[in-house]
Amino acid sequence: MKIEARARLEGHIAVPGDKSISHRALLIGSLCETDVLVRQWGRSADTESTLAAVRALGVEVDEQDVDTLVVHGRGVRGLVPVSAPGRVDCGNAGTLARLITGVLAFQEGSFELVGDESLTARPMGRVAEPLRQMGASIADTEGHLPVVIEGRALHGIEYELPVASAQVKSAILLAGLGARGRTTVVEPTPTRDHTELMLEAAGVRVRRKAGAVSVEGSEHLRLDEVLVPGDISSAAPFLVAAALLPGSSLTVHDVGLNPRRAGILEVLERMGVRVAVTRRQRIAGELVGDVEVIGTHELVATRVTAAEVPTLVDELPLVALLGAFAHGETVVSGAEELRAKESDRIETVTAAMRAIGVRIEPRPDGFVVRGTPARPRGGTVDAGGDHRIAMLGAVAGVVSREGVKLDGADSIGISFPGFFELLDSASQ
Ligand code: S3P
Repeated sequence: MKIEARARLEGHIAVPGDKSISHRALLIGSLCETDVLVRQWGRSADTESTLAAVRALGVEVDEQDVDTLVVHGRGVRGLVPVSAPGRVDCGNAGTLARLITGVLAFQEGSFELVGDESLTARPMGRVAEPLRQMGASIADTEGHLPVVIEGRALHGIEYELPVASAQVKSAILLAGLGARGRTTVVEPTPTRDHTELMLEAAGVRVRRKAGAVSVEGSEHLRLDEVLVPGDISSAAPFLVAAALLPGSSLTVHDVGLNPRRAGILEVLERMGVRVAVTRRQRIAGELVGDVEVIGTHELVATRVTAAEVPTLVDELPLVALLGAFAHGETVVSGAEELRAKESDRIETVTAAMRAIGVRIEPRPDGFVVRGTPARPRGGTVDAGGDHRIAMLGAVAGVVSREGVKLDGADSIGISFPGFFELLDSASQ
């Protein structure tokens, strides 16, 4: 697919509901003893994997609309394999594979999790290990999918995360719902807290202090409604494209601004981009607002280090592109987790940037980009089956001189099926 260079981005847009929160609304909704109305659910290939997964576990979900669901919760211990051997296909969805492992660890029955080739290459041992400490029976395949889970009685533990991962933290907290006593996760670097916030909204006793979160075993979860904020990870490609094209003025409405997710806005501001946030409000603990970005010629390089990485982990590929336009050297470090995503994103970002004429050096834990104020030439970008790299390639095409031929553009459907229509409507 050819992505043409554009002059600017303009106007007002909205992006689909947050993918992380959409997965959680289905999984936590399934454990409620109520019917849960989910509005502005972000429909994508990944979240449809979660929809199919909960249905395979006996949960009825009405699709009232493309983005409105009613989840008929079955209670904390109510998931049942609809057909033997309780097989759940996680597709490409890492969040589903990790979180559902925690949920199934204490359900009655046996379950098998499988995934596509990319997901099968990603680590599962980091989830299985702490759950085993809680008493779970989990057989992985050399630390990967397929994973076989036999439901067991669990007990609470205190566990310190060896990697900053919200997925691992969430799997443990969800298992904690079905465990005897208290389950505590200590996280040296804070990661996104959507699970904690949704569990709190569902009436679970969640205790939070600096660097740690605990849940008690809980039998009754109740959520009436989940209103999913717009996905900042889907807004980010548009905000970055607008920032890089002088003359642009773009507003993304009702986007999630959870401070543990919105690091890309801080990076944009640090690099000299005008970012205005208005209509800030809190919905069920999640911060939401409108974000306006004004394009600029005058970007300055920045550094992103380990403490900040979780707040923009999925947006780091876009930071490479911002760095390409900035005066000086933009350095991302402490981001070895990028190697464990849908692709090895240190390698795929490096290849994509080099393909369009950007000077970038990979590092074991990040990359260094040497910027120049001129638009990069353009070229051919291979998404490597990774939706975030496909979006990086698309934005690179928009802000380049000659455009980008994007191979594997269809992977964008993993998180954002309407991406190209929205790009056409917002760019000139
Ligand atoms: C996610 C957490 C992040 C992120 C992923 C979604 C989540 O992964 O990269 O896209 O929904 O919890 P890690 O927690 O493993 O870093």
